[in-house]
Amino acid sequence: MIDRKKIEDIVDGYGKDFKIATICSHSSLQIFKGAREEGIKTIGIVQKGKRKLYESFPLGRPDEFIEIDNYKDIDTKKLREKNAILIPHGSFVEYVGEKFDDLAVPVYGNRRSVMWERSREKMFQWIKKAGIKTPRTYKPDEIDGPVMVKFPGAKGGRGYLIVRSEEEFHEKVSEKDYMIQEFLIGVRAYPHYFFSPFGKTGYKTKNGTIELLGVDRRVESSADEIARAVSIGMSPQMAFTVIGNEPLVLRESLLSEYMEIGQRISDTSFDLFGGLIGPYCVETIINEELEIYAFEISARIVAGTNVYPDGSPYSLYYYKEPMSAGRRIARELKNAAKMKKLKEIVY
Ligand SMILES: Nc1ncnc2c1ncn2[C@@H]1O[C@H](COP(=O)(O)OP(=O)(O)O)[C@@H](O)[C@H]1O
Ligand SMILES: [Mg+2]
Repeated sequence: MIDRKKIEDIVDGYGKDFKIATICSHSSLQIFKGAREEGIKTIGIVQKGKRKLYESFPLGRPDEFIEIDNYKDIDTKKLREKNAILIPHGSFVEYVGEKFDDLAVPVYGNRRSVMWERSREKMFQWIKKAGIKTPRTYKPDEIDGPVMVKFPGAKGGRGYLIVRSEEEFHEKVSEKDYMIQEFLIGVRAYPHYFFSPFGKTGYKTKNGTIELLGVDRRVESSADEIARAVSIGMSPQMAFTVIGNEPLVLRESLLSEYMEIGQRISDTSFDLFGGLIGPYCVETIINEELEIYAFEISARIVAGTNVYPDGSPYSLYYYKEPMSAGRRIARELKNAAKMKKLKEIVY
């Protein structure tokens, strides 16, 4: 992983003047729109052939494009010359892979957090240390009923399997890297948090404040529509391919628990790797006893925030103006630059 000092020197060279850059994706529309609303110039890194799409949204496109053939060949020198600060999102992390760790361009947030979200084992360690319930995990010979087998990388739930026995596991799984989880029954909720170390608004944590900028739930195929097939006598395999996201507002009694969960994930991140900065999401399932289980952390802006490009039923209790996660990022960077504290929130 690139040295923190190197990134600090690059940011020092920028002075107060920076641009927001990211790979063009759905979330980038929100990031660029938010930056535009905060008066910050933007750069979209786009694969040749996809420019047409991202150019077609006048308010969601970047001020300038950098076209590349392959996401693994990001021209860091060019980005540094343009005073770019990179905003990671799900596709960004997935496309760039482990090269992300060494990118010689300042990244908003702590790039160590992306390393922690990359490993499911590390993620579980983090959630458990935060004192939040997780689904039970199994070794193959402990399987005694339907369980979920997950493989590495955020692929939007694609390729996950349900197996019912050790035999079925060996029959269907040849991969070496997997995690077997208890299948949790309940409603999924994906809260979108934003941590600021400068924290004036929000819920106080050990190292700053968090704001709850929204909550969504995912719509997954075939899982979310499977009742139709079952009702006509079919028995299809359940699958979890994400198709989209829907807004969600939590029942009143859950709100305080979700703020506690957000705080504990934040506090623990400082003990583990120097702190998660900016947006993150904890993926949870709530059972009928109202117990909350977490099975994943996204340590960056998540796609679910795209249901709130104009703010959410939570963000409007913090901000008079429509505040998306994308805009909140731009505002944070703008404020930090004004206070000469950019170095504290990039790495
Ligand atoms: N332990 C679990 N029990 C039941 N459903 C789960 C569990 N873990 C994940 N899921 C379902 O699978 C989906 C994808 O899982 P997730 O681990 O978030 O994958 P990804 O890394 O692709 O985001 C979730 O949105 C949820 O619907
Ligand atoms: Mg997930």
